[in-house]
Amino acid sequence: MLLVFRCPWFLISVLVPCFGNLQPGFSRLQRGHRLDRKLIQSFQGLSFLDCVIECLVTRRCKSVNYCKGANFCEINYENKTTADNKYMDNAGFVYSEKEHWPKELAGACSNSTCEINQTCKHKRYSEDKFFECVLSDCGIPDQKGLNLSSIKREDAIGLHRRIHASCADGYSQSGSGRLNCQSNGEWKYNIVCEG
Ligand SMILES: *[C@@H]1O[C@H](CO)[C@@H](O)[C@H](O)[C@H]1NC(C)=O
Ligand SMILES: *[C@@H]1O[C@H](CO)[C@@H](O)[C@H](O)[C@H]1NC(C)=O
Ligand SMILES: *[C@@H]1O[C@H](CO)[C@@H](O)[C@H](O)[C@H]1NC(C)=O
Ligand SMILES: *[C@@H]1O[C@H](CO)[C@@H](O)[C@H](O)[C@H]1NC(C)=O
Repeated sequence: MLLVFRCPWFLISVLVPCFGNLQPGFSRLQRGHRLDRKLIQSFQGLSFLDCVIECLVTRRCKSVNYCKGANFCEINYENKTTADNKYMDNAGFVYSEKEHWPKELAGACSNSTCEINQTCKHKRYSEDKFFECVLSDCGIPDQKGLNLSSIKREDAIGLHRRIHASCADGYSQSGSGRLNCQSNGEWKYNIVCEG
């Protein structure tokens, strides 16, 4: 018994009888790790599986960081292969990749045709459609002269989030350097880089 309680991830996988094929996902979790500064969005109070599902329904998502103690979920726009130098040791976190999970976990959203900047939401009471696509993020800013290496740990590209940027070498900067992702899915740039 004691052994089981010291392995809560195993316990969860046993308690999810509807999805017999979850074991590959659980067996490939990277405990004590997370991917840094590649955030789309973060969520409080989600279970680990709900965190994985949030990634599955968000087209841009490639991986998740999850903090068990705080039920805190982060969904990332890169994975540890594409952003190798941002893959960190971090006690308390678990890192997991989207590809390791069955896409059927997303239910009706597993067949959605949402765009790269959208997330699929289930519609419970609608008769004609079982899901809808809603904006998820502003994308990765690509304004000329922008240097994104000053982004902070909590920065994210999701709606209503912000990131900190500076101007690349050789450009002169005006503005605070804050970029806000607006509800229409477009960045508000409080920075001008002239060069
Ligand atoms: C990581 O992301 C890349 C690019 O989207 C993808 O090709 C790759 O299959 C992903 N997973 C792994 C384990 O590399
Ligand atoms: C998704 O589409 C496939 C093939 O079109 C179908 O077999 C499957 O049942 C669909 N899944 C859902 C959840 O609608
Ligand atoms: C971006 O900023 C970092 C330091 O914040 C600096 O080391 C790097 O050279 C800059 N890159 C460019 C292209 O300006
Ligand atoms: C979302 O992505 C689609 C397709 O890539 C693009 O046409 C659209 O302009 C984007 N929306 C916003 C608000 O950026």
